[in-house]
Amino acid sequence: MGGIAYCCRMDKNAIKGLHVVEHPLVQHKLTEMRRKTTTSQSFRTLRNEISLLLAYEVTRELPIQEVEIETPLMKTKMPQLNEVPSVVSILRAGNGLLEGVLQVIPDARVGHVGLYRDHDTLEAVEYYCKFPPLQGGMTIVVDPMLATGNSASAALSRVKEEEPASIRFLCLLAAPEGVEALQEAHPDVEIWTASLDERLNEKGYIMPGLGDAGDRIYGTT
Ligand code: URA
Repeated sequence: MGGIAYCCRMDKNAIKGLHVVEHPLVQHKLTEMRRKTTTSQSFRTLRNEISLLLAYEVTRELPIQEVEIETPLMKTKMPQLNEVPSVVSILRAGNGLLEGVLQVIPDARVGHVGLYRDHDTLEAVEYYCKFPPLQGGMTIVVDPMLATGNSASAALSRVKEEEPASIRFLCLLAAPEGVEALQEAHPDVEIWTASLDERLNEKGYIMPGLGDAGDRIYGTT
């Protein structure tokens, strides 16, 4: 990584339920996003492109069924999606991943859960929640940064109240602390990420990270 060695105390390949998407395009785009000189405009473009690639991976094993269709030449049986997953975005930064995901699954139903991180306790506090029917289907919960895992864990608990058949969690970056916390609270939820970073700092930011994802997406500070 750019000649600067950094290591993570977790072996990402040995963690059950954690999928690190190591595709070169994903890794390249992520490096560009991390640079502090990357503008909001470039950051948004990269985020769209990377979320599309991550969505491709998180949906890789979606169930398909054979259906009969007619081409201009003949009748035949071909695969089609058995079900369209729903997507739940953790506001506000989750919407950054949502756009790319919806490019891959345009007919997905979308829910939002608003959680803010109390800067003193780092605990998640819910201020908004609206879901489509999630019961019995697959739900993909999206949030770019899996830091302490508090918001993600609270969002997953809320989603579980709707009784989906399965849940997947999709993020751009994960901290070892967040992965541990999420897997302890929700061992049934597998995680897809572009990177397992080194650690959290004392303020709860992922290191080396990319800074505050919401601020970088929306140009706020
Ligand atoms: N949220 C962010 O936006 N960045 C971090 O590093 C951690 C949480």
